[in-house]
Amino acid sequence: IRVAVVGGGQNVEHDVSLSSSAAARAALDPARYEAVGFTIGRDGTWMGPDDRPLGSSPADSLAGALRELAACDVVLPLVHGPHGEDGALAALCELAGLPYVGSPPRAGALAMDKWATKLVAEAVGVRTAPGRLVTRTDTVVFDGPVVVKPVAAGSSFGVRLVETEAELAPALRAALELDDRVLVEQVVSGREIDVAVLDDPAGGVRIGPPLEIVVDDGLFDTATKYDGCATFVVPARLTDTETKALTDAALRVYEALGCRGVARVDFFLTAGGPVLNEVNTMPGMTAQSQVPKMFAVDGLTYPELLDQLVQSGWT
Ligand code: DAL
Ligand code: MG
Repeated sequence: IRVAVVGGGQNVEHDVSLSSSAAARAALDPARYEAVGFTIGRDGTWMGPDDRPLGSSPADSLAGALRELAACDVVLPLVHGPHGEDGALAALCELAGLPYVGSPPRAGALAMDKWATKLVAEAVGVRTAPGRLVTRTDTVVFDGPVVVKPVAAGSSFGVRLVETEAELAPALRAALELDDRVLVEQVVSGREIDVAVLDDPAGGVRIGPPLEIVVDDGLFDTATKYDGCATFVVPARLTDTETKALTDAALRVYEALGCRGVARVDFFLTAGGPVLNEVNTMPGMTAQSQVPKMFAVDGLTYPELLDQLVQSGWT
């Protein structure tokens, strides 16, 4: 079975995606799979295995890439963020009739949009941080600490905790550089808990044991995400009631958005119960990332997880 593993992408999570795709290529069981690597450059130009250029422009190279992707049995798009995880790659596969792993375009687009996710989650009874949508024409008045984040970006790029009035304008400017829509949310204090939902090729879904992120200095931001200053505790120390509330909420959101393959649903566990932070339809997939760690504790090794993912796309 030839698996096209696609990494890179045209956004700030390019390097994160390359780590995910390299790890997956290395771990796919060679007795069953031939991993064929594709990289999307920061400028949108596609490369084939060993970074072989497939054309000199995004459009040119995409034509070449499609011919080579069509020679594979399934596409595993491990591209995070906009132009990847937001449904763009799923849409490409749908249009070309290529089997692929992961969420369909609609779910990817909804989950990438933190405002749309909030509306869907609240509609199915899952709480989110109270907040408002801000665009460049809006005026925002400081009335207490808030979190400012671009509606669609990943790995916390552009996300800032604003504690004083002076920090508000620069935070809004930074977020508006990454997106023309920005969320200004009340600060939610709670433990950071992630829940992974995985399609089971035999039917239904499998939910991994929740994982807690423990950060030394408080905010699980871009720096902490990739400098090793955060510790993952899995399974998170939770009561049965807390675990049930978290996993029920994760499943409800996964289903309401129409996710497929795998998703990591991130919460703050507050005194009043889980508050949804965000949904990642193509979460980090190195062996050290949250989702593989959660399933490993549950007895599903990284190669087995990849196997299950590939089958979810292929069948
Ligand atoms: N957006 C990053 C890759 C994650 O969710 O793990
Ligand atoms: Mg994310």
